[in-house]
Amino acid sequence: MRTDSSPQTIFRKDYTPPAYLVDTVELGFDLDPDRTVVANRITMRQNPASKSRDIVLHGEEIELVALRLNGKTLAPTEYHLNGSTLTIRKAPAKAVLEIETLCAPVQNTSLSGLYVSNGNFFTQCEAEGFRRITYFPDRPDVMAKYTVMLRADKAAYPVLLSNGNLIEEGELGDGRHYAKWEDPFKKPSYLFALVAARLVCQEERYTLQSGREVLLQVWVEEGNLDKTDYAMQSLKNSIRWDEERFGLELDLDRFMIVAVGDFNMGAMENKGLNIFNTKFVLANPRVATDIDYAGIEAVVGHEYFHNWTGNRVTCRDWFQLSLKEGLTVFRDQEFSADMIGTDSGRAVTRIDQVRTLRQAQFPEDAGPMSHPVRPDSFVEINNFYTVTVYEKGAEVVRMYQTLVGRDGFRKGMDLYFKRHDGQAVECDDFRAAMADANGRDLRQFERWYSQAGTPIVTARTRYDAVKRNFDIILSQRCPASAGQADKLPFHIPVAVGLLSASGKDLPLTLEGGKHAKGATTVVLELTEQEQIFRFRHVDERPTPSILRDFSAPVILEYDYTDDELLHLFSHDSDPVNRWEAGQRLAMERLLKLTAQVAAAGGSDAGLKLDATFINAQRAVLTDDTLDPAFRELALILPSEIIIAEQMDVVDPQAIHVARQFMRRTIGAALKSELLAQYHANQTPGAYSPDALSAGKRALKNLCLSYLMVAPDMAELKLAQQQFEKAGNMTDRSAALVSMIHSGAEAGPYLKAFYQDFEHEALVIDKWFAMQAAAPTTNVAAVRKLMQHPAFTLKNPNRARSLIFNFTGANPSQFHAADGSAYEFWAEFVIKLDAINPQVAARLARGMDRWRRYAPALQAKMKKALEKVAGRAKLSNDVLEVVTKALA
Ligand code: PHE
Ligand code: ZN
Repeated sequence: MRTDSSPQTIFRKDYTPPAYLVDTVELGFDLDPDRTVVANRITMRQNPASKSRDIVLHGEEIELVALRLNGKTLAPTEYHLNGSTLTIRKAPAKAVLEIETLCAPVQNTSLSGLYVSNGNFFTQCEAEGFRRITYFPDRPDVMAKYTVMLRADKAAYPVLLSNGNLIEEGELGDGRHYAKWEDPFKKPSYLFALVAARLVCQEERYTLQSGREVLLQVWVEEGNLDKTDYAMQSLKNSIRWDEERFGLELDLDRFMIVAVGDFNMGAMENKGLNIFNTKFVLANPRVATDIDYAGIEAVVGHEYFHNWTGNRVTCRDWFQLSLKEGLTVFRDQEFSADMIGTDSGRAVTRIDQVRTLRQAQFPEDAGPMSHPVRPDSFVEINNFYTVTVYEKGAEVVRMYQTLVGRDGFRKGMDLYFKRHDGQAVECDDFRAAMADANGRDLRQFERWYSQAGTPIVTARTRYDAVKRNFDIILSQRCPASAGQADKLPFHIPVAVGLLSASGKDLPLTLEGGKHAKGATTVVLELTEQEQIFRFRHVDERPTPSILRDFSAPVILEYDYTDDELLHLFSHDSDPVNRWEAGQRLAMERLLKLTAQVAAAGGSDAGLKLDATFINAQRAVLTDDTLDPAFRELALILPSEIIIAEQMDVVDPQAIHVARQFMRRTIGAALKSELLAQYHANQTPGAYSPDALSAGKRALKNLCLSYLMVAPDMAELKLAQQQFEKAGNMTDRSAALVSMIHSGAEAGPYLKAFYQDFEHEALVIDKWFAMQAAAPTTNVAAVRKLMQHPAFTLKNPNRARSLIFNFTGANPSQFHAADGSAYEFWAEFVIKLDAINPQVAARLARGMDRWRRYAPALQAKMKKALEKVAGRAKLSNDVLEVVTKALA
């Protein structure tokens, strides 16, 4: 909670090295939910790189019991203690500090530091949670070796875990026991973890490629041991993949994953002891969907890959967060793509990434919380675990690979580890390694880290039939963002191909280009504000396919005709651009329809959808040569949020009506094809989460959702039967969602679903989420769901399932004309803030785009924001978000 009146902004430019370095940390825990005693012995020495001789330790919400320096107890006059730091002035060159503190884990509802979840102890230290456990220089550039002694009641907490290796365990009498752990690697405090719990594990010995044997464990609560196989499999796949793709080996003898039901984020890469939100560990076909399985693979991979990108080489300061997060997201994306293995599977994962960027990152880049991949300032670091740092950061890393090639990227990675293993470094160090390993000048590329906002690339083309030249003229601009009025040109890789009239890729000859002969895709490097690229020997006016594979996180403007888009939609060999052409065709129509609905006072009477578009959709739907997963993506219309981003003044109701009209029209026009594909893409037999089967289910369930926009009796029956006969959660939940969305009487099915899964927390989350996100659910219905005995604000997954899915995924109801949902938003930002500021601040972000709505809505949104901002007791987390929104 805020103690002084105005929160402090921290600036990257103010970085100074720590005055003292820490060699070793010895921690002793006497674990008790109400009163845990932490003894901490830190061996420190002066940092030659600093002029200061003051030892500065951070501490929050802990009680100092004793403090000794080099064996001598310090009197309160010998140190300075304020709300967040403990300072010892003019300390000796070598200092051994012994610190004893108290904390109350059971009262820690913020889930940062040491806390209790379902009766078990867990920690979460990133970014600044370690200081809630003990006094320490809690900054990532202080790396030390840790030894940890855990003591706890044996019956209540039979399992005692920490980082590294178990070196000793035994009984203490009194029913208590102990375990001593030692982490052989230096680490920053944010990677510390402990678990003291009643848990069971699935374990396996696994042989690395080098022949070394390691112990892998997945720890869960007793009833969940039937849901750990996929996490274990994903862990083994991750280990293998990092060996093969990057030559990086697991450096520990033991690697543990622990699942916890109360967790703010997805998972945490603590050294050797990854702690996961249950959502990203637990799966079996009965309770988890294909999307859950994919999420588990990605997150297990992500946390595992952090062991090198994040742990062995970490961040100098939190402004460098994307150094580890952007890189590790890129690595997990590549892992997931490689696990599918096919080109079309790869493309499907790439399309998903593009959708996430447009749905979440582009809006962030254009809104009040806009920040560069490497921010220059923040009030609360927890607010900067963003889609910009993560997903745009991953795009930035991907662009290196696009520029220097896969082998060049590997060389850059090798050099990065050679130079920086064991260090805390900056984004610039990664860029330097990529540049130096490849002999490339990547100085201009730095602007991807320093400039916020989504660049807009505009393309024009001209064809000279006589000279057989085809020119692509690219220009770039980037809208102003907070504190950055004028932007300098970015270094943008733009992958391009040219299609003949018959839809074939033309072999390319780029004037001055260095590409391989006969190449059909070349990467243009746009570095100036405007540049002309000339292709020679072009025998016919081609259709350009620009920004293939989404080669840069930009908005591409090009005046495509409908015919060109249809041509690309049916022929482009680049699946991402093929999909993109379909999205452009749909978006043009959606925007026109939305305008018509708005002009007609919200009515869809008289709207029309052209046969050309419907025929193009039909062609993709029925093209069995295409991957089902790709067909599904090609048929999903841009989301209401993405449509909103294209409008100067957003009318959420009109968008919803227009999009529903389009879906209903497609559903009616393609009824027989949808039904045929529905039946053709069944996945009988035992459930498997593999990409092909998942793709079939996705396509089949998309067909169902189209048929269910305005269902007749037979279609309703189809959904009901799917619900009843489903052999897996993907099909069961899809059927239920289609019923809820259709407005059909879904009550009995919702009830049956609830009863079946009453004891599966993650499924009950789905139960809340699917109702919250349905356009048939208004704010009154959400408030009613909150009265359900299974609802609680204290569990982040549960709070998110109902509240966030309503405010974030149900735009037509959230923006109800009377503003009632905005009041709901304000009420729960405030309520959540008293429990868990991090979760509250994420909810607060839901109002970011308020200035883009029609004046009547804007006024109500502003009022809600002001209501929150005006509260006397607000966390820095929420205060930063609402202050920036109102600025
Ligand atoms: N570092 C974690 C990840 O990306 C995310 C995280 C941040 C988890 C802060 C908890 C707290 O994998
Ligand atoms: Zn991460």
